[in-house]
Amino acid sequence: MEKTNLERRVFHPPEEILRHANIKGEMYKEAQADRLGWWKKQAHELVTFFKPFEKVLDDSNPPFYRWFTGGTTNVSYNCVDRHYHSDKRNKAAICYENEMGKKVVMTYRELYVEVNKFANVLKSLGVGKGDRVCLYMPMIPEAAVAMLACTRIGAIHSVVFGGFSSHSLAERINDAQAKILITADGNFRKGTPFPLKENADAAMEAAPGIEKCIVVKNAENPINMHEGRDFWYHELMASAAKYYQPEEMEADAPLFILYTSGSTGKPKGVQHSTAGYLVQVQATLKYVFDLKETDVFWCTADIGWITGHSYVVYGPLALGMTTLMYDGTLDYPDKDRVWEMAERWGVTIFYTAPTAIRTFMKWGPEYPKRHDLSQLRLLGTVGEPINPEAWMWYYENIGGGRCPIMDTWWQTETGGFMVTPTPILPIKPGTATKPFPGIEVDVVDDDKQPAERGYLVVKSPWPSMLMTIWGDDQRYLDEYWSRFGDYYFTGDGAKKDSMGYIWVTGRVDDVLKVSGHRLGTAEIESSLVECEEVAEAAVIGKKDDIKGEVPVAFVTLKDGYKGSSELVAKLKKHVDVKVGPIARPSSIIFTSTLPKTRSGKIMRRLLRDITEGRTIGDATTLADPSAMEEIVAAYSGKAG
Ligand code: WTA
Repeated sequence: MEKTNLERRVFHPPEEILRHANIKGEMYKEAQADRLGWWKKQAHELVTFFKPFEKVLDDSNPPFYRWFTGGTTNVSYNCVDRHYHSDKRNKAAICYENEMGKKVVMTYRELYVEVNKFANVLKSLGVGKGDRVCLYMPMIPEAAVAMLACTRIGAIHSVVFGGFSSHSLAERINDAQAKILITADGNFRKGTPFPLKENADAAMEAAPGIEKCIVVKNAENPINMHEGRDFWYHELMASAAKYYQPEEMEADAPLFILYTSGSTGKPKGVQHSTAGYLVQVQATLKYVFDLKETDVFWCTADIGWITGHSYVVYGPLALGMTTLMYDGTLDYPDKDRVWEMAERWGVTIFYTAPTAIRTFMKWGPEYPKRHDLSQLRLLGTVGEPINPEAWMWYYENIGGGRCPIMDTWWQTETGGFMVTPTPILPIKPGTATKPFPGIEVDVVDDDKQPAERGYLVVKSPWPSMLMTIWGDDQRYLDEYWSRFGDYYFTGDGAKKDSMGYIWVTGRVDDVLKVSGHRLGTAEIESSLVECEEVAEAAVIGKKDDIKGEVPVAFVTLKDGYKGSSELVAKLKKHVDVKVGPIARPSSIIFTSTLPKTRSGKIMRRLLRDITEGRTIGDATTLADPSAMEEIVAAYSGKAG
């Protein structure tokens, strides 16, 4: 990260963008002078309430903050009905394409019909307000329809990323006590159908609470349909009634749960609210990505992650914009797939992750050069710190040196952007710049004092903040509010430069970012120790040029077992099955000991010193200081 310190390049906003930007410089001042007044104004402008709110922020029971209390609304009404009733009715809401070239353009009118019908389908299957519905789906328009239909009837959805294993899916279904599962017969990855339904079947074996499973026909993949439990989406839709009056939801009614990784092996169900969420996702999208009527917005994130929720589905649709969904790999049939699509769909704003940018960079500029990308006007990145080299490559080769890059820092828990440039700010490669108007963040030291380098905290509540961890208020308190009291602790380290810009350096807890996917070291470790051969495991993130980080596992074996390449393969396979292939360790090192303190805590930072080839840090608190030599030796002759 030292390189970022030396980063002096500053890029000023192009005249054309400055002149027409949705955001005006005075908004920063306005929000600073009256933060709640600013959010009140955003709520009035961006959300249609059925009953007006009485209070902008109810902070009577911190940190269980509630926004826009007293008000009622419905998210699907805001995302669909109000555009259906306007001259946007025939505008493209969702443009979709899959890897095999299938295309769909769904207008707001069509989306309205689908969402209404699917709301009736859910209702007819016995789903009511507050019930949980789990989605395990590809990036298809039906996924957005299902999410919106849930919000229409007041059900709480929990979308589980399609790359997670059946075990992880079952764990999430059970935690949320979902009674309906929506999935598909598969989707394509490099031309081969991926067996989503098979995984769903295995998960349902372990999740008996699921009463009904709805299956979208998407890949013509042969699957088993379980009589009485499984129903085809298209068959249910064929006879569904065409209108469902949106339920009137309290502003602070739970909207969805999204599981993410924390520092223990158990994933946490981050619970989001209705009105506050809807206000911030729209405000951020409108002012950061500067959306205009004619824009085509392509956020490449999967709907299984928060970015897909906020900036593929809810933000763009609530604003009445055109959002592009692509279900497929970036290099199929060739490495120019993304640019070919961007040109063909007329994408004007493109938002992706640093890991994808580094992959494009590795493939070379000849691929984007094959296509005319002159309609692009803004670029974005999210998910992990972007190295200045990748930033510059993106700026020059994709943005043609004219498109500002919005490096947006935020989290599953924050719901929407928190630290981010807007198109009127000077930008620098590698920094997410400043807090969004109405957001108060800082960098503090261990004693909560402002510092140039330290921990990133949020100093006051924000509208799209998580409400709690599903079913576990104590964990909400412990994970976010125990370290700095009334400041929300993000889990990230950061630095502040002389312009006051914030440079996020990465996680300071046991969370990894592998190709932008968030994984807990503890989740991977607990799957490893389930194997009969394994005594203990410590997983750390090792720097990787493309993926940002990859998991590396240090494993001690029980007496009588020996490390071998077969065992490595077996353990990797086990992680695939238990967590998902995204969590598979890139290497597994067998050692006879792990670096532990006298109280038994594994010192992962020492393991990171080894994998990064650094001088090993202070090891004096180790129970057995000689352990390090042995681990270094094991690593240098590593097993695979
Ligand atoms: C990291 C993704 C640097 C950070 C929306 C955060 C970033 C975690 C950035 C949340 C960025 C996200 N610069 N780091 N622009 N954006 N991060 O919950 O470590 O999947 O805490 O949400 O990603 O990951 P999550």
